[in-house]
Amino acid sequence: MSGPGKSLRAAVLAPVAGLTVSVALSGGGLGCEKKSEAAEARDLFASTCARCHGADGAGGLPQVAGGAAPRNFHDHEFQRTHTDAQIKLTIVNGKGTGMPGFGATFSDEQLKGLIAHVRSFDNEKGTATK
Ligand code: HEC
Repeated sequence: MSGPGKSLRAAVLAPVAGLTVSVALSGGGLGCEKKSEAAEARDLFASTCARCHGADGAGGLPQVAGGAAPRNFHDHEFQRTHTDAQIKLTIVNGKGTGMPGFGATFSDEQLKGLIAHVRSFDNEKGTATK
């Protein structure tokens, strides 16, 4: 009669095996949650800037009557004549009547990512002033 003995051993071992598997899974899950910085900046732009500047950064219609149109970031002339520091100031303080200032909404890392994302729309990448 070896049957009952076997199933008892399986019942004791199964919970231990289950524990090992769940620990391994949660450990792997943590590593997967971290997005690349570029992907994070793209998501940030999509959620906070795209409603005015367009998901593709091409700009849009003025948000207030008589206001300036949201900037088209594909325009190399804009990219060439604006430094990273100026873009950062625009994001923090806003510009004119149409561009809201975001104040302390973004961390320095997030600002860097947003600036890089704005730069990525440039028609002639690589020649913008820094
Ligand atoms: C409510 C609409 C709106 C939102 C949201 C918005 N912008 Fe703007 N943005 C504008 C308008 C309008 C202008 C043009 C302002 C002007 O020239 O007077 C502008 C201009 C700019 C400029 C050019 C400034 C310059 O020196 O000419 C940059 C850079 C910019 N926006 C970045 C961003 C980023 C990055 C975000 C998201 C964090 C964002 N904007 C969100 C409306 C918006």
